[in-house]
Amino acid sequence: MINVIDFINTNRDRYVRELKDYLAIPSISALPEHQADMKRCAEWTGAEMTRVGLENVRLVKTPGNPVVYGDWLHAEGAPTILFYGHYDVQPVDPLDLWETPPFEATVRDGEIYARGAADDKGQVFMHFKAIEAHMKQNGRLPVNLKVIIEGEEEVGSNNLDDFIRANKAQLGADVVVISDSAMFERGIPSICYGLRGLTYFQIDLRGSNSDLHSGVFGGSVANPAMVLAQMLAQMRDKGGRIKIPGFYDDVRELTTEERAEWRKLPWSDTRYRKELGAPKLFGETGYTTNERRWGRPTFEVNGLLSGFTGEGAKTVLPATAMAKVSMRLVPDQHPDKIAALFEEYVRKVAPKTVELKVTRMHGGKPWMADFDNSFVRAAGRAIEQGFGKAPVFCREGGSIPVVSTFQEELGIPSVLFGVGLPDENAHAPNEKLDLANFHGGIVSAAILYQEIASR
Ligand code: BES
Ligand code: ZN
Repeated sequence: MINVIDFINTNRDRYVRELKDYLAIPSISALPEHQADMKRCAEWTGAEMTRVGLENVRLVKTPGNPVVYGDWLHAEGAPTILFYGHYDVQPVDPLDLWETPPFEATVRDGEIYARGAADDKGQVFMHFKAIEAHMKQNGRLPVNLKVIIEGEEEVGSNNLDDFIRANKAQLGADVVVISDSAMFERGIPSICYGLRGLTYFQIDLRGSNSDLHSGVFGGSVANPAMVLAQMLAQMRDKGGRIKIPGFYDDVRELTTEERAEWRKLPWSDTRYRKELGAPKLFGETGYTTNERRWGRPTFEVNGLLSGFTGEGAKTVLPATAMAKVSMRLVPDQHPDKIAALFEEYVRKVAPKTVELKVTRMHGGKPWMADFDNSFVRAAGRAIEQGFGKAPVFCREGGSIPVVSTFQEELGIPSVLFGVGLPDENAHAPNEKLDLANFHGGIVSAAILYQEIASR
């Protein structure tokens, strides 16, 4: 193992140079105009997988963006790891808030800034370099490895479930490894054993055929912006409790033990509040910040659009109003069931004065693992060696839809070892990845394969 770690340590600069090339491809899955970039990024991913020594590399067509597959299966008798990641990234708007262009990766103060640096190209690339180090130094891997890198995670992994169901036999493995999350805090590496699920909707309201003079017509027809605000205001109460009937029916309550564990984590609400620049924290009454983020469901407005938003004043009654809303879900809520409850409730709270259109978008199931297993212990040892500190165990509020599919369809447990940081601006302007963690992640990943082999 020492030769592998030495190799990694002497190649630090090259890794950053190569990662920059990967980050230069604007693989934004949400925007149709980036279709060609998605293909280019899949090809780049596949070529890199071949370069590091994986075999049978291919781009698998789906109705959406290709899934990139590769494997190395010559460690007879050793366990098989299925490594999963995604090559797609989130949109970059608002572009003017980026200090350097999102697709020209720039290193400043030990961080590499670019869209996808943390989520998830940088973390996928760590594993590519760990694989490369083993192959270059030993000509082999200590485990069997299957790799799938998808291009639709940020839009709900719609086609991945079908890919997995159609390739069940081929994807058999002992454990799934994923690096697509953050550590608990700078200097405190973590293993994540739970993720929230999601269901996402667009609400469109129409009150008239065209925008109207607000003096001539105001007061005699509904204002869709006003109606939308009133509808959204009925989604949750002031204490943060969601008012959709039946919403909490399947929510698994946090156990006393788990709450006690989370309270042991080093945490300051004041610091959290200040870092976020929030005047005061908000959340469901009766729960701590981490309980609210990791173990409780939410209803959020992601975006609103209506009427005149330019400079100055315009007296107008908008014809339409639109909202993008989503709900984060916890075990044992099911996205389909919650989606049905939401639709029924929206229709109920919408007045007859507007035409309502409700469009369901993507989603995913929540996930929670039993983390007392030998794979998690192996990951703990790997992280301890790579970062000089044993990991803490926590859940995360984000979603990775495929994790529950791996569990349900293939019966394979997942180990989530992410090395991003909570303040690395995933999905926001100036996304970045700490290069020391990137490097620690490569070392840890290389050790993880060895630890899983000899667990
Ligand atoms: N990497 C994130 C998920 C994540 C973030 C996990 C932080 C743990 C901690 C992932 O790429 C992501 O953003 N997923 C989407 C999924 C959705 C589009 C179905 C999310 O959570 O919004
Ligand atoms: Zn991600």
